[in-house]
Amino acid sequence: MTIIAVANTKGGVGKSTAAVHIAAWLHDQGHSVLLADCDTQHSSSEWIREACPDVKTVILDKPDDILNELPALAQETDFVVADGPGSQTETSRALLLRADLAVVPCKASMLEIRALAKATEVLRQAQDIRGGLPKAIIVLSMVGKKYRLTQDMIEAAAALNLPMAKTPLVLRQIYADAPGQGALVWQMGARAREASMEAKRLFSEILPEAKAKKVKTKREARRSA
Ligand SMILES: Nc1ncnc2c1ncn2[C@@H]1O[C@H](COP(=O)(O)OP(=O)(O)O)[C@@H](O)[C@H]1O
Ligand SMILES: [Mg+2]
Repeated sequence: MTIIAVANTKGGVGKSTAAVHIAAWLHDQGHSVLLADCDTQHSSSEWIREACPDVKTVILDKPDDILNELPALAQETDFVVADGPGSQTETSRALLLRADLAVVPCKASMLEIRALAKATEVLRQAQDIRGGLPKAIIVLSMVGKKYRLTQDMIEAAAALNLPMAKTPLVLRQIYADAPGQGALVWQMGARAREASMEAKRLFSEILPEAKAKKVKTKREARRSA
């Protein structure tokens, strides 16, 4: 699983926050990582350059660039994490035609879950064309601390045939403060402890094969070959 797309054609659902943290976490697990910034705002590439300069970045905000360049870029690195755009549907479509895994952040309310049918339409088209690929998982984001997943929401998500990660990302000020400080939550001290723990738990859950140290990176595999 090399190309991970963080995708939801709705804006403001936590895509860039998730993409930057996933990319940095994969780097911390010993992998070489490229962050492909597919949003015309370019905010995630700027953020990760400050927070984790070892993660390389590339801006790929045009559909043709994604379709043409992503496979070759993926060959050169263990993981590409693509931060998907908001409303640019054709850019999302290109990304989902190339991705191995789609991580779909979604705010946890009935309205948002209903909107998810529309927001994941391009995902379903790609899966239909590609015989089920990309694999996809919903990640609940900006969830209230006292929040409970209601049966309605479980059923609405199940109707979309998308699995949902067990660990949600809670609504916490620290996540909103992180980009301004050019930091990841696990670089932000005691105040960020809970956020760091939940983020790492989530990434271990959705990317178990990437977790350190059992896996060999492509570079190590080449060296030992
Ligand atoms: N778990 C969270 N708790 C609080 N604020 C968050 C959280 N995740 C993201 N945010 C903030 O919400 C806004 C939208 O998040 P962002 O990651 O930019 O979404 P997208 O890339 O989908 O537009 C940003 O201001 C971000 O800092
Ligand atoms: Mg974004």
